[in-house]
Amino acid sequence: MSSKPSEDQLLIRKIRDGIVIDHIPASKALTVLRLLKITGKEGLRVALVMNVESRKIGVKDIIKIEGRELSRDELSIIALVAPTATINIIRDYRVVSKFKVEVPDSIEGALRCLNTRCITNKPNEPIRTKFVTISRNPLIIKCHYCGTYYTEEDIEKML
Ligand code: CTP
Ligand code: ZN
Repeated sequence: MSSKPSEDQLLIRKIRDGIVIDHIPASKALTVLRLLKITGKEGLRVALVMNVESRKIGVKDIIKIEGRELSRDELSIIALVAPTATINIIRDYRVVSKFKVEVPDSIEGALRCLNTRCITNKPNEPIRTKFVTISRNPLIIKCHYCGTYYTEEDIEKML
């Protein structure tokens, strides 16, 4: 037999140019899209598979985004909700770059602070949120403005 069987190819074809976010913990794909603020309204072609077999992590989700490259900084925040994720940059059908996501030292703009009295929640003072990473494992981040600490389970509420 020639090429190795690949479970996701049964569901979604290879893409020509874009990003494949692989090894996402099962059922977390929609959370990853929310984190990246991809709603579908941008007109990007997005493919999503949930709960497919993975040799590395048991069961996984995969997202393929065609026609758009995100910067390494934009992609690194995926580690907040999908620490096992692998990013593949695809150009002309080939994987030209592959790396694991890692929580950055600070996270700007992507998350809301849950403290209603935080300056970032004042309606008339639009301030870009900023959280500083205190610990990666376990995940602990801290609002740069009000000092509130957040853990992994808070992240979905902050999207
Ligand atoms: N992929 C794709 N389109 C391409 C090339 C790759 O959608 N033109 C997808 C593959 O289906 C796979 C991921 O990108 O989900 C990574 O591709 P590749 O590195 O070829 O696969 P593996 O070696 O299985 O990856 P890993 O070692 O990271 O598990
Ligand atoms: Zn705050």
